[in-house]
Amino acid sequence: MEAKMWILALLLLSLLFDGIGVRAAELSRKTERISGSAGDVLEDDPVGRLKVFVYELPSKYNKKILQKDPRCLTHMFAAEIFMHRFLLSSPVRTLNAEEADWFYTPVYSTCDLTPNGLPLPFKSPRMMRSAIQLISTNWPYWNRTEGADHFFVVPHDFGACFHYQEEKAIDRGILHLLQRATLVQTFGQRNHVCLKDGSITIPPYAPPQKMQAHLIPPDIPRSIFVYFRGLFYDVGNDPEGGYYARGARASVWENFKNNPLFDISTEHPTTYYEDMQRAVFCLCPLGWAPWSPRLVEAVIFGCIPVVIADDIVLPFADAIPWEEIGVFVAEKDVPKLDAILTSIPTEVILRKQRLLANPSMKQAMLFPQPAQPGDAFHQILNGLARKLPHHENCFLKPGEKILNWTTGPVGDLKPW
Ligand SMILES: *[C@@H]1O[C@H](CO)[C@@H](O)[C@H](O)[C@H]1NC(C)=O
Ligand SMILES: *[C@@H]1O[C@H](CO)[C@@H](O)[C@H](O)[C@H]1NC(C)=O
Repeated sequence: MEAKMWILALLLLSLLFDGIGVRAAELSRKTERISGSAGDVLEDDPVGRLKVFVYELPSKYNKKILQKDPRCLTHMFAAEIFMHRFLLSSPVRTLNAEEADWFYTPVYSTCDLTPNGLPLPFKSPRMMRSAIQLISTNWPYWNRTEGADHFFVVPHDFGACFHYQEEKAIDRGILHLLQRATLVQTFGQRNHVCLKDGSITIPPYAPPQKMQAHLIPPDIPRSIFVYFRGLFYDVGNDPEGGYYARGARASVWENFKNNPLFDISTEHPTTYYEDMQRAVFCLCPLGWAPWSPRLVEAVIFGCIPVVIADDIVLPFADAIPWEEIGVFVAEKDVPKLDAILTSIPTEVILRKQRLLANPSMKQAMLFPQPAQPGDAFHQILNGLARKLPHHENCFLKPGEKILNWTTGPVGDLKPW
C-alpha cells in the first residue's frame, strides 16, 4: 500500500512538473475563464447597476474607534473599515438618498481588540443597536423597510451573532434588529443560525502588499505535495481535545504526521508564502469557525485549496465555482486524504491550476488600497446589484412594524 502510493505520487509529481511551469508569456493559455452559478460575473463592473447611500454617523461609531487601536487595519476583519473607505469615494455612492438602492451604516463593530489583538464582540450588539436607533430617527429610510434595503458589514467569527464561541453565538442568534438587513460577512456555513438567506459571504482580509512581496517566479516547480501550517490542537481553549475544528485538524495530524507526502507542522516558517507556491495542494481545514485566511493565501499562491469544512459556504460562491477550483473532503474522510489526493487525475489537477491562475480569481479575494476593478469590494457591490430590484415586500405598509426593539438579551438593550 505504502509503496504503491509512493509510485503513484512520484508519477503524478513528474507529470505535474511539465504542466506547472507557467511563464508570463504563456499565462493567457494557462488560465481559464471563471464562471459561477450567477454566470460569468467576476469581471462585472458594478458602476451604473446600483447606488449606495452612506449614512454619516458621529465618528464614535467608526473613526474614533480606529484611532484608539490602529491594529484594526491589519487584522483579518479589517474589511469593515476598508469597505467604508472604499464606498466613500466609490462612483456607486450617491449623496441623494432618494435615489439609493442600498443604504450602508459605517459601524466598526469588530475593532475592540484584546492586548493580544483578538477582536471582542461584546459591545457590538449595543453599538449596532445604537447606530440603528440613530439612523431610524434622523432619516426616514430605515422605517420604510426596517432595514430590508440596508446592508451591514459584520466580519466577526459568527457574523451578526456577535460571539466568538459557537454555542453562545447560536444561543444569541443574529441580532434581531438586523433580521431584515443584508449581511456581508466572512462566516458561511449552511443550516446555521448565524447565516441567513441572502447574505453575502466574503473572504477574510489578508494583507495584499505583504503577499505580493513574497511572489516567486511562477516556473518554480511545485515539489511539495500537500502543505499546511497551523494549529492541530488548541490546548488553551480546548484542553480535552476533539472539539477544536470538530476534530478535523487533530485527525490530519494523527494520520499524516509521518507521511512524506504531507508537509504539515505547527511551526510557521518565514518561507510560508513561498512554500505555498511550491505546493500542489494546500490544506484549508476549518478552525474554530469554518473559514480561514488560508483559503485566500492558497488562491493567491496558486495552490489548490483542499477544503475540509463540512457545509462551508465559501466567499462569493455564486460567482466563483469553488468545486471546480478546489478539492472538498468531508471531515469524516480525513483519514483517507492521502488516497483521495493521489487519485485525482493529472488533467483535473492541471485544470484546477489553470482556473487558479486566472488573475480575476486572485483579485476577487483581495481588498487592495486603492481598490482595483474586480477586487473583493467590487464583488460585494456586484452581489448587492444582483439582489436588485428589491422584492416588493421589502417596503412596509403604512403603520406596519415587524421588528421588536425590546427583543434580545437585556444586556444588549442598554444604551451604548
Ligand atoms: C421611525 O419609527 C420610530 C418608531 O418605531 C420613531 O420613533 C421614529 O421617529 C421614526 N423615524 C422617523 C424618521 O420618522
Ligand atoms: C417584544 O419583545 C418583548 C421581549 O421578548 C416581548 O415582551 C414583547 O411582548 C414583544 N412585543 C411585541 C409587540 O411583540
